[in-house]
Amino acid sequence: MDGLSEHDARLQVRGGRPLEGEVVLSGAKNSALKLLAASLLTADPCVIRRVPRITDVATMVTMLRALGADASDEGDAVRVEAGGRLSGCAPYELVRTMRASIIVMGPLVARLGEATIAMPGGCNIGPRRIDFHIRGLEKLGARIDIEHGFIRVHSDGLKGAVVPLDYPSVGATENLVMAATAAEGETVIENAAREPEIMDLCAFLRGMGAEIEGAGSSTIHVAGGRSLHGVDHTVIADRIEAGTYLIMGAATGGRVTTIGLDPAHLELFLAKLQAMGVQVEEAEDRITVTRDGPLAPVDISTLPHPGFATDLQAQTMVLLSLAEGTSIITENVFENRFVVVDELNRLGAGIETSGHHAVIAGPRQLSGTVVEAPDLRGGAALVAAGLVADGVTEVRSVYHVDRGYEDLTGKLCALGADVTRWEEDPRTGPPEDASLLTCEDEAVRGA
Ligand code: EPZ
Repeated sequence: MDGLSEHDARLQVRGGRPLEGEVVLSGAKNSALKLLAASLLTADPCVIRRVPRITDVATMVTMLRALGADASDEGDAVRVEAGGRLSGCAPYELVRTMRASIIVMGPLVARLGEATIAMPGGCNIGPRRIDFHIRGLEKLGARIDIEHGFIRVHSDGLKGAVVPLDYPSVGATENLVMAATAAEGETVIENAAREPEIMDLCAFLRGMGAEIEGAGSSTIHVAGGRSLHGVDHTVIADRIEAGTYLIMGAATGGRVTTIGLDPAHLELFLAKLQAMGVQVEEAEDRITVTRDGPLAPVDISTLPHPGFATDLQAQTMVLLSLAEGTSIITENVFENRFVVVDELNRLGAGIETSGHHAVIAGPRQLSGTVVEAPDLRGGAALVAAGLVADGVTEVRSVYHVDRGYEDLTGKLCALGADVTRWEEDPRTGPPEDASLLTCEDEAVRGA
């Protein structure tokens, strides 16, 4: 944005309209980022299709260019050619912007035998440690020093090994699978993550010539030492984007169909929606939700896939705030993923948290006001809340949401929502037509 700080984009949502219609899903953020990193494993060009136009992808493309690869937009595809001389150093500024940048570590060690990655900070959902990544690479024979805020990885040739993960970490599984493609002999990753995005990465790597068995199960076998070539691959649809729109459809009492996602990627989530009284129709790559009665409370525990996705937890709290009774959500994946609760309560929700538990009282009539998005999925939850709240909800710091949702405003308006995005220019203040919620505003007076 020219001259605008990232904190100035805002969404104004007028609640009360049932969402109706179809939404074509974008490619999965949490797969596309890894496929872009995996393109570093070969000097051949790789074409990755259905790449979502989101800021995290832009950051990863910048990272690839900083490492010396060519990366270019080709419509909804990105073409990466890491043919030239690559630098193995991932700069702090980019890693600070997106901690998922750590995912270049495995490919760089595989391709160059070394990598220097700025230590990714934590974020507000937790410390986001990387000890499983580091211990796994050491198991494959890499030497790792951490000093001056950088992780320096060296290898004189990775050796295949059995690598048991303490926890089915998505990122650690991905870094280790990519590193293992260059290790001599077989690598077996035990207690591997089973997310659909892992399966998509392994499909991409097999398309490059890698030999990988067991993707999607807890034990992944990688036969290393194959030279990898370019691939043309389409990213799977984003199951978290899908779940977000399905929640918005159910919350507003409308009828929303997502297009592009295999319903099996959201099996437990859809079962929970049904337990709440939402009607769910599944077809090959379509999922439709409707609701013709009140919502029932349910208890939910977030877990690694195929458990309930932690990335849908904040959005589900909004739906449960409308249910006729009390629900409990237990967050088992991240240490601090109830950050958005205070803002939801300012909209009229009745959520109390204690440690890893959130107790959601319902039903609540939410009422619009100005709220601040604390992170990506919390921001999406605030937009969902605004869709059902009385009056206008203004969601600030919507740059968080831009990290993971392509054209959220356009997709919501196409579903009949009343959503306006505006970027307040500090030089001129808000646009004339933007109604700032003030104490004179009827929405605040409750007139
Ligand atoms: C990926 O993060 C996703 N991000 C997250 O999505 C998602 O919430 C998470 O997987 C779980 O599904 C991307 O794919 C870019 P983890 P990742 O390693 O790989 C601890 C979103 O909203 N841990 O499975 O970082 C860690 O602290 C984002 O799109 C260690 O302790 O997840 C966390 O508590 C948010 N040591 C838990 O494991 C390690 O070495 C899960 O982390 C690694 C992880």
